[in-house]
Amino acid sequence: MTQGHSDDHPASHVDVARILQGRRMRRNRRTDWSRRLVRENRISTDDLIWPLFILEGQNQRHPIASMPEVERLSVDLAVAAAERAARLGIPALALFPYTDPDLRDEHGSEALNADNLICRACRAIKQAVPDIGLITDVALDPYTSHGHDGLLDGDEILNDATVRRLVHQAIVQAEAGSDVIAPSDMMDGRVGAIREGLDHAGFHNVQIMAYTAKYASAFYGPFRDAVGTNKTLRGDKRTYQMDPANTLEALREAELDIAEGADMIMVKPGMPYLDIVFRLKDQFGVPTFAYQVSGEYSMIHAAARNGWIDLDRAMLESLLAFKRAGADGILTYFAPRVAELLAGQGS
Ligand code: PBG
Repeated sequence: MTQGHSDDHPASHVDVARILQGRRMRRNRRTDWSRRLVRENRISTDDLIWPLFILEGQNQRHPIASMPEVERLSVDLAVAAAERAARLGIPALALFPYTDPDLRDEHGSEALNADNLICRACRAIKQAVPDIGLITDVALDPYTSHGHDGLLDGDEILNDATVRRLVHQAIVQAEAGSDVIAPSDMMDGRVGAIREGLDHAGFHNVQIMAYTAKYASAFYGPFRDAVGTNKTLRGDKRTYQMDPANTLEALREAELDIAEGADMIMVKPGMPYLDIVFRLKDQFGVPTFAYQVSGEYSMIHAAARNGWIDLDRAMLESLLAFKRAGADGILTYFAPRVAELLAGQGS
């Protein structure tokens, strides 16, 4: 026999056709047109949020060693990136500052400066590319000398005092033209407080994307290089970011954020937490986003650079996985690369 076993081998007595009874799942997979026809999920440019790192100066682009193909950009070059994003059809950018170390202090004062790097970037981008969505990060870590997202009292990260500063930070960003305030700090009550503060200041149309389930993760390493907090961070963030072991706690966080007025919720990191994305979307049905964080991005790049995986295929597959889990959109450093690839495919 061609299969290499003799006629009296037990394998030749197995009647595969009888077992199948005509139920052949592979029929739909045979041809490209059929696979396209039965495809359940798609990644589109409309799903992408592009995080940008902003740097002081003019015509400056600084590579980040742990994040291939990602650079910190001065405001003028960030405007050019925003123009590129708009041309590609990417709906929104998420801005993060690399704050000059001299401007960092115990209290993260620079976060409240209405003329800080992020505010200047917002104004410049809004003026040049008014139709792109601007998402700004609310948290103190890029501005504190100790690298924490909140105010420190000894070893304790103060909750309520930090929240009041975050409200101030959010209003300063809204004044600069931010469309979406994205608190990534994980203090309790900050979504409700920011909503109230924005409304009082007349910004009832400014949206809030809550980092709802943000875990104390090892995958943020390259980001901390990018914003310059890796070297300065004292201790870890486990008293405010979530324990990677927990699921039900994420449901409670989501319940609170939605009750406090979050327009959109987010899970972070992304790929190792797809079960959380699924659970939140399933249970609450609100716009749900995932952040494919720096470590995830850099792992895919590193493997591709070693020739171990195909970069574009792994990138597209990772993003499709978010859609399958129920994400409405993804914050990803791959955004411009995916958008270009999809544009080339005519989709
Ligand atoms: C901090 C913040 C972090 C990220 C976004 N905002 C890192 C941290 O919590 O230390 C990580 C994003 C990434 O890794 O891509 N407010």
